[in-house]
Amino acid sequence: MLLTDDEKRMRDGAEGPAVAAAMDLLLRYGRALGAERLCDIRNVAGTMTQPSPVKAALVKEGGWDKAFAVINLDSDGDFAIPDMRVPTCQLQHGFGSDALGIVPYPKQSIELQADAEAFYGRRGVNILATCTPYQVGNLPTFGEHCAWMESSAVIYANSVLGARTNCEGIASTGAASLTGKVPCAGNHQDENRRGTHLIEVDPRAGVDSFLDWGMLGYFAGGIAGEDHPVITGDFGRPDVNDLKHFGAAAATSGGVELYHIPGITPEALTIEAAFGGAAPADSYWYGPSQRRHVYQTLNEIGASPDVDFVLLGCPHASVDQVRRTAAALDGRSLSADTELWIMVPRALREIADRSGYTAVITRAGGRVLTDSCPAMSRTAPAGTRVFATDSAKQAHYLPAILGIEAWFGTTEECVDAAVTGRWRGELRP
Ligand code: F3S
Repeated sequence: MLLTDDEKRMRDGAEGPAVAAAMDLLLRYGRALGAERLCDIRNVAGTMTQPSPVKAALVKEGGWDKAFAVINLDSDGDFAIPDMRVPTCQLQHGFGSDALGIVPYPKQSIELQADAEAFYGRRGVNILATCTPYQVGNLPTFGEHCAWMESSAVIYANSVLGARTNCEGIASTGAASLTGKVPCAGNHQDENRRGTHLIEVDPRAGVDSFLDWGMLGYFAGGIAGEDHPVITGDFGRPDVNDLKHFGAAAATSGGVELYHIPGITPEALTIEAAFGGAAPADSYWYGPSQRRHVYQTLNEIGASPDVDFVLLGCPHASVDQVRRTAAALDGRSLSADTELWIMVPRALREIADRSGYTAVITRAGGRVLTDSCPAMSRTAPAGTRVFATDSAKQAHYLPAILGIEAWFGTTEECVDAAVTGRWRGELRP
């Protein structure tokens, strides 16, 4: 790989052994990707605080320096970890401390995570503790090269913001945070950002709501896999929540990291531009029967109408989503046997509190929780057998993670299930 003088200095240890180990990792990674050079970046979203038994053992052996070296730099060296070289944020946590006492979660893991948060905060990691850093101030500019993890955030950064990131891992983001470099390959290069699959939306599919944008995303991911769907046709104008849901779903049913909606997303203003003047590899139609199929797929794990648990806010909810949930719950009470959680970034919880939304949700018996989610913490309220959600991603993953049934529907249908204890969505049992 071609290296600048600055990169050679870092590789050769001029900035200490931790930075040299980070460069070593990036060079190995870059060669595996076939990259010819490294990109300069100044925006890293990674994870350092997630507790695990391996991490606990490493911390016991050599403190957080050792844990970072092994897990975030793939190095067995013994060295101190310096401050982050470029702005770096921690994505979602493994557990939110405000769920203490609500779900069983190992005390040691809670302590380990709190310790990690303090250690990395001191080294300049912004503890955003959310899968949606773009909702709480980490907004890369159009064309900016980044190193982000978390599939729902990566697809948002590439597609909605027009920034450039691959779906990085724990080690590559660790190395990027100490160097401000990442291999210049994949989504960093113009030629790899073109559309591949054209999906034309039939007006009769009625894509004009949060629910429907999630289902269209789920369809697009199933079609495109790891390629780049281009959406055209007749649909309502999506807002940022709709696009957040669309992307998270496309990255769940497939591995989509980038899509284009000409006229909506910023990188390709026309279909021709989206495909770079080439013909699409494949064209697909999304009409009422395709919509029905997606809806049935996302509800196929549901059998019992008795809902124990409602989960909203995956990816983490915006303030507006919290407001809508509060409006749907205002003056009502949850069924005695049902819990409702809405997951939010910790920075937005304050706004929800001050706007009065948290009080409305809490008065009804629900909870506004931060930092994590049931899929990350692998926990739900004790005794949960059937859950309902407005998130295609959570409907896809949580049944497999927790062995529970799932219903997928609108936010209002989920709130209705929390109040009545019964599922009464489009597909009634
Ligand atoms: Fe976020 Fe958890 Fe969903 S981390 S994207 S709320 S699975």
